[in-house]
Amino acid sequence: MSTFKKMVIAIDGYSACGKSTTAKEVARILGYRYIDSGAMYRAVTLYFLDNHVSLSNPRDITKALSQIHISFKVNSKGISETYLNNLNVEKEIRKMRISEKVSPVSAIKDVRVAMVEQQRRMGKEKAIVMDGRDIGTVVFPNAELKFFMTADMVVRAIRRQKELLENDRLVDLDEVIENIAQRDKIDTTRKESPLRQAADAIVIDTTHITVDEQVDEVVRQAVSKALKPS
Ligand code: CDP
Repeated sequence: MSTFKKMVIAIDGYSACGKSTTAKEVARILGYRYIDSGAMYRAVTLYFLDNHVSLSNPRDITKALSQIHISFKVNSKGISETYLNNLNVEKEIRKMRISEKVSPVSAIKDVRVAMVEQQRRMGKEKAIVMDGRDIGTVVFPNAELKFFMTADMVVRAIRRQKELLENDRLVDLDEVIENIAQRDKIDTTRKESPLRQAADAIVIDTTHITVDEQVDEVVRQAVSKALKPS
């Protein structure tokens, strides 16, 4: 258990800016729990696709949500993985077929209500790093530390393409750019908790910096916050 001050660290921002990579490593360094809120929306999307849930049928959606249980388990390498109804779906939810549908699913109010409730429960004990789109604005508006990540579109797409390739999937760069741009558009313009920068968030542009530098910046801010009298 961490002896470091227990805080909530929220990392929001656009798709593929390095939020998850940063959040995971910061959590490891601070002895915090890492929660990938995007993985939860991806798991819901997987369930909806595989069970042919119609996005225009509120009754179907309510019923499906009542049958979805999402959890995270740490594997033997210390990496947190996503489980949907006790099945490991970590690999499946990163596929393009999910990326293509996740933003419309995430824009549905009932989906958000259900996920936000779970996220707040997971963060009750604090000592967490959670990344997403609405963590500092809606899920934990009182988070001790908030970050907002951004980066150049092409740089983001190249990084995501490399990540997909590491999982043996070669996706055309134009297709990756198209997906990221489309998701950014839906995420920033939706009615329910759109992606926006919290007034008290620290902005990190990751275009020209390394993962280590991103991580250092967040850890540095966390240490400085922890040392301040509250
Ligand atoms: O990894 P990447 O940044 O591409 O996306 P993600 O964090 O896995 O999130 C996938 C999608 O879930 C986003 O494009 C949003 O549509 C949605 N999402 C959301 O609405 N709210 C969150 N807190 C996290 C993700």
